[in-house]
Amino acid sequence: MFDKKRFMVTAALPYANGPIHIGHLAGAYLAADIFVRFLRMMGKDVVFVCGSDEHGAAITIKAKKEGLTPREIIDKYHVMFENTFKSIGISFDIFHRTSSELHHQTAKDFFMNLYNKGQFEERESEQYYDEEAHQFLADRYITGTCPKCGFENAYGDQCEKCGSTLNPTDLINPRSTLSGSTPVLRKTSHWYLPLDKYQVWLKEWINTGKLDGAELHDPATWKPHVLGQCNSWLDGGLEPRAMTRDLDWGVDVPSEIPGSDGKKLYVWLDAPIGYISATKQWAADHNRDWEPYWKDNDTALIHFLGKDNIVFHCLIFPGILHAHGEYILPVNVPANQFMNLEGNKISTSRNWAVWVHEYLEEMPGKEDELRYNLIKNMPEQKDSEFTWKGYQEVVNTELVNNLANFFNRVVVLTNKYYGGEIPDFDMEESFFSSSDPDMDTYFDSDIIHLYDMLSELHGHVMSFDFRASLKLVMEISTFGNQLLQLNEPWKIQKSEPERVAVVMNFALQITAVLAVVTRPFLPFASARMHEVLGMDFSEENGELVDIMGKLAEGEAILPAGHKIGEPIHLFTRITDEQVEIQIAKLENSKSASTEVALADTFVPLKPEISYDDFARMDIRTGKIIKAEKMEKADKLLVLTVDLGFEERTIVSGIAKHFSPDDIIGKQVTVLANLAPRKLRGVESKGMILMAENAEGRLMFINPDEDFPAGMTIQ
Ligand code: 2FM
Ligand code: ZN
Repeated sequence: MFDKKRFMVTAALPYANGPIHIGHLAGAYLAADIFVRFLRMMGKDVVFVCGSDEHGAAITIKAKKEGLTPREIIDKYHVMFENTFKSIGISFDIFHRTSSELHHQTAKDFFMNLYNKGQFEERESEQYYDEEAHQFLADRYITGTCPKCGFENAYGDQCEKCGSTLNPTDLINPRSTLSGSTPVLRKTSHWYLPLDKYQVWLKEWINTGKLDGAELHDPATWKPHVLGQCNSWLDGGLEPRAMTRDLDWGVDVPSEIPGSDGKKLYVWLDAPIGYISATKQWAADHNRDWEPYWKDNDTALIHFLGKDNIVFHCLIFPGILHAHGEYILPVNVPANQFMNLEGNKISTSRNWAVWVHEYLEEMPGKEDELRYNLIKNMPEQKDSEFTWKGYQEVVNTELVNNLANFFNRVVVLTNKYYGGEIPDFDMEESFFSSSDPDMDTYFDSDIIHLYDMLSELHGHVMSFDFRASLKLVMEISTFGNQLLQLNEPWKIQKSEPERVAVVMNFALQITAVLAVVTRPFLPFASARMHEVLGMDFSEENGELVDIMGKLAEGEAILPAGHKIGEPIHLFTRITDEQVEIQIAKLENSKSASTEVALADTFVPLKPEISYDDFARMDIRTGKIIKAEKMEKADKLLVLTVDLGFEERTIVSGIAKHFSPDDIIGKQVTVLANLAPRKLRGVESKGMILMAENAEGRLMFINPDEDFPAGMTIQ
């Protein structure tokens, strides 16, 4: 992969329907950013694209919820995304959007190309239609009872209670969320991508890297969980998938195609084409040619994303690219798994998240502290966990005590001993080195040790092992701290100034290496280090090649006599108070979301009734004067209720909730003109009205003061 002439790197286009949280960063954007920055610093030709995913039901549902138009929603979140990504240091070459004219045209052209090649199968099927809203319903617009667990508010594509994947037609009592009416099945026709026909080549390509005899990638470099997910889909058998929808928000199916009226492209067809249109826009802005980045075999195409997007990028999008015929396929899709937060899944609807824009406001200047924590815990192979206590511990021990401490000590001592100038030294002078702690070593062999560490770092980054990469960066800092600790220049400056000059010169070379290698991981701290060390911090362009070249020659990065600036604290400690505030904020959203969850469990309203319907009910106050269990019926109690004008027998299904003795004397509300019914041979005349909470607990509804029996309730 690394031998390719150019790199095309994409990061999943986030849906423009909600802010970015730490799970997004840890899943796709940080990994992509580290990789791209590293490539640039290795002097590679790389384009890094992303943008807002502005179509699909995700957007229209959010718009409906907020009482805004889809356009207002996407404009709001697109701007928010741009700011958030920029502020946390994600260095896209372009952050585009799928609502742009260029994207619509690109996606339509792509569709037309496949259509003309006869790649689609047109099929008729029955889908739910809302006769009141006059539209076909996206899966998310249909709710109903889950056939698996009985949850009454399951969506047409998934039950959020039991997690089952559903089809809208699986739902019992389906309802349209647009009008509340019962949708009807209507015939509609769509264009399907025959994934079943691609099954064989996709399986071969994924698992061997070979396609039509050409070696396109090395599956040994793919993450096992990515291959595993693809193979489990492939083993289940791929099925044709509709590439169009009946919607009014999205990219139009090209009008030249008969029957295209009212049809839009499926969002999962249009979104990945967004990578291509973003590249086109970038090329137009920079007077470059976009095509080699997507069509030349000497380009490595790499998609970064979270595990919920794997199938779309490893099977469906490659299927589309190959069907088109002119495009290259990805050489790797290094998807990450999910990051959890304080023991729970991150959830937008429950507000269980650390929102990046809020973090940036509440923890100003601490961008790298967050980046560091998310990289250190990146869910590369399995789900991981973010905790605020962990965040505090990691910042204080690793960034403050190790990196900031080393950097500060070197700068302070250089200013103190040499007026801020890099000291010259005698090559023959020895010092203690932690790279070979048993003996005195010479400066140049330690320079080689640094070079070796950078080569190892390169290996980790190229195999998408960003946790190991970060660890290695910190080992360079540890190496520097040990150098100072072993030689203790502050003790021997007077007695052995020659030795101290070697130690300090070498320590300064380590700070320079750190300034450069931290850049993909901690770009803000890297900028501060560059400034203090008087190093140029311009565009990322070959800096790593530069320093590795120097180290390989045993040459210093900062020459003797070079002047550095005043000491600074690269990082400061995170206080207990700061993390307590964040934990309390999460706790608040937990209690708020419990209320929301309870609200979610409200039973939907029954159909409307007229006043006359209501007026026909005769509801009275009453008092229970006798209560006993009904024989052989563990749910029923036989009650005698005083209605003032008469005593009634009412059989009530409350035996599991109340014992007879506890309810004698209770005031109750009774539906008194309900037709009598026989229950287990006992005639029940009327019904006791009860309230039922979300957990199914029953409560009597009674007046809050003593009321005579027989009064009307209306
Ligand atoms: O899961 C998501 O947020 C999708 N919007 C990702 C799309 S990735 C690509 F195809 F654009
Ligand atoms: Zn269910």
